[in-house]
Amino acid sequence: MARHLITSALPYINGIKHLGNMVGSMLPADVYSRYLRQRGHDVLYICATDEHGTPAELAAKELGLPVDEFCAQAHDAQKAVYDGFALAFDYFGRSSSEQNVEITQHFARKLKENGFIEERAIRQVYSPADGRFLPDRYVEGTCPHCGYDKARGDQCENCTRVLDPTDLIEPRSAISGSTDLEVRETKHLFLLQSKLQHEVEAWVAAHEHQWPQLASSIARKWLTEGLHDRAITRDLDWGVPVPADTWPELAAEGKVFYVWFDAPIEYIGATKEWSDQDPENRDWKSWWFDVDTDVRYTEFMAKDNVPFHTVMFPATELGVREPWKKVDVVKAFNWLTYYGGKFSTSQKRGVFTDQALEVLPADYWRYFLIANAPESDDSSFTWEHFTATVNKDLADTLGNFVNRVLSFSRKRFGDEVPAGAAAGEAEAKLGEEIARLLAEYEEHMEALQFRKAAAALRALWSAGNSYLEEKAPWLEIKTDQEAAALTLRTAMNLIHLYAVVSEPFIPTSSAAMRGAFALEDDTATWVTPEEARSLTSIPAGTPFTVPPVLFAKLTEDDLEAYKERFGGQAE
Ligand code: MF3
Ligand code: ZN
Repeated sequence: MARHLITSALPYINGIKHLGNMVGSMLPADVYSRYLRQRGHDVLYICATDEHGTPAELAAKELGLPVDEFCAQAHDAQKAVYDGFALAFDYFGRSSSEQNVEITQHFARKLKENGFIEERAIRQVYSPADGRFLPDRYVEGTCPHCGYDKARGDQCENCTRVLDPTDLIEPRSAISGSTDLEVRETKHLFLLQSKLQHEVEAWVAAHEHQWPQLASSIARKWLTEGLHDRAITRDLDWGVPVPADTWPELAAEGKVFYVWFDAPIEYIGATKEWSDQDPENRDWKSWWFDVDTDVRYTEFMAKDNVPFHTVMFPATELGVREPWKKVDVVKAFNWLTYYGGKFSTSQKRGVFTDQALEVLPADYWRYFLIANAPESDDSSFTWEHFTATVNKDLADTLGNFVNRVLSFSRKRFGDEVPAGAAAGEAEAKLGEEIARLLAEYEEHMEALQFRKAAAALRALWSAGNSYLEEKAPWLEIKTDQEAAALTLRTAMNLIHLYAVVSEPFIPTSSAAMRGAFALEDDTATWVTPEEARSLTSIPAGTPFTVPPVLFAKLTEDDLEAYKERFGGQAE
């Protein structure tokens, strides 16, 4: 048994996430956590909403809500969707928590003590009409490159060029529209990452062998370009305040930390939130502080987040000069596309997680998304592929097997698992195959190779179908009742095995499969190689019921309806 700390990139508070966000962070983290828990490990899976920054302020403003109220509501709305997806977080926190404020401020003080934070004066856009400095996104104007008249101070949405607010033609405040803007000098805190370059390099070199190539190549690229000192404070009302005991002047000006400074610290903050709910039994520090060798820490994220997790946050942690746990394994994902185009939250293209659950239950999505996770490359979501996969793998291969076996047995042998003849050659061969595929499945799961794990799981389901076709109990029954009973008992053992090993992917359906058998105590959390080989854990005489159809078969009409509702192609 080992201790596993698992986090998935914290979803931004503004807006419900789309399927692309889900498959690149929270869902695989959940599948992995569930798997490890089933294998008997001590697992802590932590996530939270990432609540600070201008997008939160702007989204709140659009709805006419105070930003703290907006965040509280939006947090609950996201949490409800994740519950719907059966994401079994140990804790789902909020980066605006007092715990995160406390730890973020502590990190900042330590970084200053150690010479890694200094104050620098910079020139920034100030709006007298609004009485405040305007962070990049709060300045709008005409793009000097393409002439788009709603370009933001950080980037032009039309031509995607990165901008500085002072580049904009006819700049105006995004808050009041005022064009009376001036450039004033103001002080900000800078994180001196350049001083940490060599340490981060050494740290990456010592750890990247555990990361998929996607993560280490991105980290390398950033290190080659060199770590630059960067401003870690902003002029916003919403954020972790700069601590007044350390920087009285900046605190008095109302400066807060930049969202990317406090967000990763919330992995720790959320663990403390979890711990503070039951301090007698939960010890957040035992997961994060001075635990370098006994906790294995795995992070899940999409590729755009990799620089922050492999370079920037480790730099922060190193600069603090305290033994905070650093990541061991970085599991990064490419993009899921929608018909080859972009899923886009801002342009509402693609399928959002709340809508997905309106269409079909979570297990359909969980299985499809993980089986097609954008691991080695981008992968494309299409409704055609989705419905075909559901029909073939879930409805035909798994669901139909379960229903066919249980209904046929009940019809012929009643409500208990029949005894039948002693296992023969076909059962021995099946057992070998199942044990081999199970070992393969485990190997891919441990290696965080989710598509391959899904393929092995599918192969386990298929092996049952081949066995059933080969033995054909509906023919056996005509000549040899005992032989038919053996086949059905073996197939029912497979169903129970499927229930156990499919749980990380399709927890709800797994519970239904497991619940079909009235075992005296079903404590099986995993299957040993011996159990896989013998397929006799469910003894003859065990009462069972036939569960309702596990997976509905999707029709042409369903497909047309989905395409109609969501658009069947990228723009
Ligand atoms: N909110 C960011 C995103 O969605 C991810 C933050 S991850 C953290 O891209 F580490 F900073 F928390
Ligand atoms: Zn432009």
